[in-house]
Amino acid sequence: MLDIWHPFWQHGLEEPIFEIKETKDEFLIKKDGTKIIDGISSWWANTLGHNNPYIASAIKKQAEIMQQIIFAGFVHKPAIDVSEKLSKFLPNKFTHIFFSDSGSICVEVALKMAVGYYYNKFNKNKSKIVAFEHSYHGDTFGGMSSGADSVFNAPYKKMLFDVLRIPYPKKNEEEKTIEAYKKLLKEKGNEIGAIILEPLVLGSGGMLFYEPFVLDELYKLSKEYDVMFVLDEVMTGFGRCGTMFAYEQSNIVPDIICLSKGLTGGTVPMAATVCTKEIYDAYYSKDKSKMFFHSSSYTANPVCMAAASANLDLWENKKPLDDVKRINSYYKKQLGNFKDARIKGDIFAFEADGGENNYVSNLAPKLYKFFLDNNVLLRPLGNTIYVMPPYCIKEESLDKIFGLLKKIK
Ligand SMILES: Cc1ncc(COP(=O)(O)O)c(C=O)c1O
Repeated sequence: MLDIWHPFWQHGLEEPIFEIKETKDEFLIKKDGTKIIDGISSWWANTLGHNNPYIASAIKKQAEIMQQIIFAGFVHKPAIDVSEKLSKFLPNKFTHIFFSDSGSICVEVALKMAVGYYYNKFNKNKSKIVAFEHSYHGDTFGGMSSGADSVFNAPYKKMLFDVLRIPYPKKNEEEKTIEAYKKLLKEKGNEIGAIILEPLVLGSGGMLFYEPFVLDELYKLSKEYDVMFVLDEVMTGFGRCGTMFAYEQSNIVPDIICLSKGLTGGTVPMAATVCTKEIYDAYYSKDKSKMFFHSSSYTANPVCMAAASANLDLWENKKPLDDVKRINSYYKKQLGNFKDARIKGDIFAFEADGGENNYVSNLAPKLYKFFLDNNVLLRPLGNTIYVMPPYCIKEESLDKIFGLLKKIK
């Protein structure tokens, strides 16, 4: 047997790896039947709860009909269903959807789409990207380049492309961000093709929240300088922030959104990059060299599409948001108990005392172990402890999580 190399895992620490036999609702269930509360939705992917029977049945049905076909020159009903159903949740400004397989890849697609747009319009100069400090957009090269300099991408620094940075819009310091962007655009606007942002929450950066009006201001500036406004809703999409998409809390509609994780309810891998007609039209031509050069073998995999389609059925009338509201009300009652506590939708975060505050701090693994010893999965980001459960989580599970949090604060 080959030894399995796990992601974001330091095997040298020789910490135990647990085998999970099955899942249900907010629980990961070990071989011996022990139930672990999944307090982070299995890396923010699961939204509606594990083993959702409706999505599972759709996957099974589709797997018996067709599992995979080439998506260049062919289409299938599950993909048509997803584009039709998703469009009902989006404003008319969005007209086209490009499918892919993961959060990182739909970000790559978005960046390529934006820069290629200008290239096809004979504006080859506009190829620079702007992003926030502390941002995270995935672990592929475009994602790493757009993400903040950190321990995550340090070994590859020389291989990454330059990205222009503006400060994260900390509460009451939003003007600094807006002014920094203004200055950048004045100096280099004719070279900037896109700005990519995590709307309202910088997740891996430490659950840093910011106000929706910042999106309005940055969007306005982007349009003045003909810059594509890209929102990475990989984590925030599908209800995490209390609205179906985080950008809905602002007054703008971006040019491109990146979706993954909650798109299938967190069941099977899939992603989509949704864009405007203006972008699509820049590639529409009799000239083959102007096509969008991106694909992966499993683009629009029918089984994954069936899962996404079923997930979108469950979002009809945006019902899952009622659960997010319920969880949010629970969080509100906890706010006073913790340092720098903050909540947004389904996310609760605070800062624990002690230890150096970075991803590799010593505190995080100790706390991770303490939680797991008590059958709760939480993965602190340095000193930042956060909770982001599947929306079906029961009050008694929240009580158990917060009981533990009170012990360590
Ligand atoms: C905002 C954001 N973008 C992109 C990604 C990358 O997604 P994936 O892990 O599916 O490649 C993540 C993952 O957590 C994310 O939070």
